[in-house]
Amino acid sequence: MTILEETEADFDGIDRVNREAFGGDGEASLVRKLRENDHLILSLVAKTDSGEIVGHIAYSPLSGHDSGAGLAPLSVLPGFQKSGIGTQLVRASLPILREHGIGFVVVLGEPEYYSRFGFERADERGLQNEYGAGPAFRVLELRPDGLEGVAGLIRYAPEFGEL
Ligand SMILES: CC(C)(COP(=O)(O)OP(=O)(O)OC[C@H]1O[C@@H](n2cnc3c(N)ncnc32)[C@H](O)[C@@H]1OP(=O)(O)O)[C@@H](O)C(=O)NCCC(=O)NCCS
Repeated sequence: MTILEETEADFDGIDRVNREAFGGDGEASLVRKLRENDHLILSLVAKTDSGEIVGHIAYSPLSGHDSGAGLAPLSVLPGFQKSGIGTQLVRASLPILREHGIGFVVVLGEPEYYSRFGFERADERGLQNEYGAGPAFRVLELRPDGLEGVAGLIRYAPEFGEL
């Protein structure tokens, strides 16, 4: 398994992973729109040795918080789930985000899954979300001062409003 930044040749494979993982076109369409609007901070694919794209992770900017990024979507083809690919995608992405100067990442997701990477409850760090999510809204500080001066409502990129 290789983890790589997306290239144009990967776009169809990314579409497929998102459609099959989520069972619909919503997330695939979201990724296309983020890409079209230059709102993808980072998009990584997991490729098998034969070149099949079996996993994908995307990060987009947060409205009003230049130093933050929203993790979404994260997807692995159903036949490849629970074999560590999602974990590899998250772990590979974090140092790249740090290099991009990102100070914190938020995610709406399964608390148990994301806590393994150090994500904490965002409300306990003074952050709210637009979706009324409680413990599922998580945050990870990527550097010691990553959340300095960051408080209140965190908004994802506008494309999420169309999901
Ligand atoms: C969620 C998802 C990305 C995880 O990727 P994955 O490659 O299957 O996950 P991993 O193999 O890295 O998972 C490792 C661990 O997480 C657990 N896990 C996987 N999905 C989980 C979930 N939804 N909730 C809780 N735990 C989960 C696995 O059981 C495994 O546990 P273990 O290490 O204790 O055995 C993948 O299952 C998926 O695409 N799901 C459908 C789309 C989705 O819901 N995406 C998440 C949006 S935030």
